[in-house]
Amino acid sequence: MKLFDVYPRWQIEPVSAKGCKIYDKEGTEYLDFYGGHAVISIGHSHPKYVEAITNQVNKIGFYSNSVLNSLQDEYAEKLGQLSGYDDYSLFMVNSGAEANENALKLASFYNGRKKIVAFRHAFHGRTFAAVKVTDIPAYLAPINEGLQVNFLPFNDIAVVREVLQQNEISSLIVEGIQGIGGIQVPAPGFLQELRKVCDETDTVLILDEIQSGYGRSGKFFAHQYAGIRPDIISIAKGMGNGFPVSGVLIAPKFKAVSGQLGTTFGGNHLACAAANAVIDVIREENLIENAAEVGAYLMTELKNIPRIKEVRGYGLMIGLEFEEPIKPMRDRLLAEEKVFTGVTGAHVFRLLPPLCVSKEEVDEFLKRFKKVIV
Ligand SMILES: Cc1ncc(COP(=O)(O)O)c(C=O)c1O
Repeated sequence: MKLFDVYPRWQIEPVSAKGCKIYDKEGTEYLDFYGGHAVISIGHSHPKYVEAITNQVNKIGFYSNSVLNSLQDEYAEKLGQLSGYDDYSLFMVNSGAEANENALKLASFYNGRKKIVAFRHAFHGRTFAAVKVTDIPAYLAPINEGLQVNFLPFNDIAVVREVLQQNEISSLIVEGIQGIGGIQVPAPGFLQELRKVCDETDTVLILDEIQSGYGRSGKFFAHQYAGIRPDIISIAKGMGNGFPVSGVLIAPKFKAVSGQLGTTFGGNHLACAAANAVIDVIREENLIENAAEVGAYLMTELKNIPRIKEVRGYGLMIGLEFEEPIKPMRDRLLAEEKVFTGVTGAHVFRLLPPLCVSKEEVDEFLKRFKKVIV
């Protein structure tokens, strides 16, 4: 059997990794400023993480959600404390798209409405509702027709207000920082205004923190820069440091209805072991503070490079926009300088290193990066 060929791939096969470094079969070392698509939070192969997963699989790796699993409660408590949402409830699933799918459904169960507002250039995943609120028409199949989604310009509160005032919108979904849309940070006041208009119209405010959350922005959630509290928050990526696990944080006003949501794999023992280890390491090693500090240093240094048109982001979620297409620079960075980076569109680098990246590694990155952008 062959693989279904949907991914453009680099001709590199990582076989091991440690911290912010990746190694291929020949032993070549790469600097990871992509974090496997913003997934690696505490660093590759962290010993505590490896130990926790190994110990857990030696005891019990999986059982269904029809039995008690105190690892879930332990995780929910830690997450509540570290994120500042200890009065919210947690529903655990397996991927980012699935988290958003459940968030959108929960909103609709809650207010009985059918329409959704999302933003231009948004990305929320590939499953039925998640792909429909993603502003990339090429990802839609004919079966996705039916669900009504209104894509509004990001940061334009007047238009949002006009649409929401029809009192027909079930939920409004927005990323903490638009990732695939080019590392677009919400304009000052925008999220606060969204919160206000959602309250006025009984629209459920969903914050997709799948890429911008889990400490990457230098706060636990990027929306915390705006000081608001959404109704529902979706998390994934950094939560498991590569183990597939995701979740939905749900405000107290939503009442759980038995059987309304469900999953076979979500919140299984291994996933909880991974999530518990990750959150412990984030706390013990002050990785959110590190993301804020090292990220600020990296951004300051990048802003001194005249070739870069614009540097955007918070913490370790950084977009670098160039006038010209970046593909040749990115290819050289990987082939010659052995550095992984992310990209969005043709002109924007996305830097998403593990949250444990050090200043020395940032200096090393800058040295190599400058070589390819001259
Ligand atoms: C903001 C955002 N939402 C949702 C998703 C979908 O997550 P997954 O690929 O785990 O389904 C992604 C993935 O890149 C994302 O960046």
